[in-house]
Amino acid sequence: MLPSPYTPGETPTVLVGREEQLERARADLSMMATYGRFLGRVQVDIGSRGVGKTSLLKAVRDAAAQSGAVVVWVTARGDESLVAGLTHGLLRALEGLGVDVGPRTPLRERFQSVSLELGALGASAGVEVDVQPRRTPGSGAASTAFAELVSAAAIAARERGSAGVALLVDEVQAAPREDLRTLAYAWQELQQSTPEPPAVVFAVGLPNAPDVLTAAVTFSERFAFRTLQRLSAVDAAEVLEGPARAHRVTWEPELAAEVVRIADGYPYFLQLYADALWRVVGPDEGAVLPLDALDRARPLVADELDTMFRARWSKAAPGERRLLVALAELTDDRESPVRRGAIADRMGVTSNDLSEPRRSLLDKGLVEAADRGTLRFTVPGFAAFVRAESAG
Ligand SMILES: Nc1ncnc2c1ncn2[C@@H]1O[C@H](COP(=O)(O)OP(=O)(O)OP(=O)(O)O)[C@@H](O)[C@H]1O
Ligand SMILES: [Mg+2]
Repeated sequence: MLPSPYTPGETPTVLVGREEQLERARADLSMMATYGRFLGRVQVDIGSRGVGKTSLLKAVRDAAAQSGAVVVWVTARGDESLVAGLTHGLLRALEGLGVDVGPRTPLRERFQSVSLELGALGASAGVEVDVQPRRTPGSGAASTAFAELVSAAAIAARERGSAGVALLVDEVQAAPREDLRTLAYAWQELQQSTPEPPAVVFAVGLPNAPDVLTAAVTFSERFAFRTLQRLSAVDAAEVLEGPARAHRVTWEPELAAEVVRIADGYPYFLQLYADALWRVVGPDEGAVLPLDALDRARPLVADELDTMFRARWSKAAPGERRLLVALAELTDDRESPVRRGAIADRMGVTSNDLSEPRRSLLDKGLVEAADRGTLRFTVPGFAAFVRAESAG
């Protein structure tokens, strides 16, 4: 039996259906590599849990490395400074390029002034970040220090034959607000600087990222948000068939069609079903995955999903659970969005009382706002899990 080429929960071997997003990133990267340009707009691809944000960002990272850029990746968290993470990553990457970042070098001094502005940067986790940019954009001491570091780093990288600096931020909505402000103001300042530092930021985050960023900075035109959609049926079929083809294994067309229907364009489900099917069939080269394997694969999928749903449910506070239960009870088979008013009625509370649990569930990525005033679950099948959980 061949090992499964599918990747539930991991970076896919083949990234399907994201050519447009990658093209956009490559265009920015080549502006930077060819003309040494500064990319003043931060591209943010937003989407629900499991839609493929990290996978896309990893492909962008590979493209950045290929274009010859110095690459720094940070996964933002609420309890760690994003700017500190970027700063540390930059210094390490430059060191790797052979740039002198030892004591009393210009880069080390800039690094230290960012550290100073951020507070105790030395300790990584749980750092108290004390960044208080003054009222006018661009006058914050931390953002100026960070801008100067990025600028010096980009120019040093360029002198070493690198294309410039590419900063990649996953889970951007989770970053502390002060850090988002520092990053945004620094990008604003760099826009005016001469020489232009060859630098670019790519970020991905949950659908609430625009709200979080707009709350952190009064101007948000530095950010260009685009929604990462679920995959089309054609692309979904390719997620199933592409990796198998590489092993001369084919999908019975009815089976592929059925899994495409169940997954509804949601990449995580495609990988999950494909991996389970592969494991129950255990194909050798030249084999066909048959339709009748689906019933044998379902229990494996159900187990995986149950583990994931249970982890999410256990992270929900009591008030959040009440909302989840009401939403689950109002969710139909097609998982259409539910109006907020209907949820409040069901819970016997006012729409206002909903705002707190609603906000924290959005932040956790458990629910999303489909249109104004509606909510729905982000993962297919979670509604049924919540109904079963609350009945039991
Ligand atoms: N374009 C794609 N083609 C094939 N598989 C994909 C694609 N995008 C994502 N996947 C698969 O879907 C799953 C989820 O992907 P990923 O972790 O990138 O999602 P995410 O949006 O970052 O999720 P989360 O919000 O939980 O961090 C993984 O198993 C990955 O292999
Ligand atoms: Mg992710």
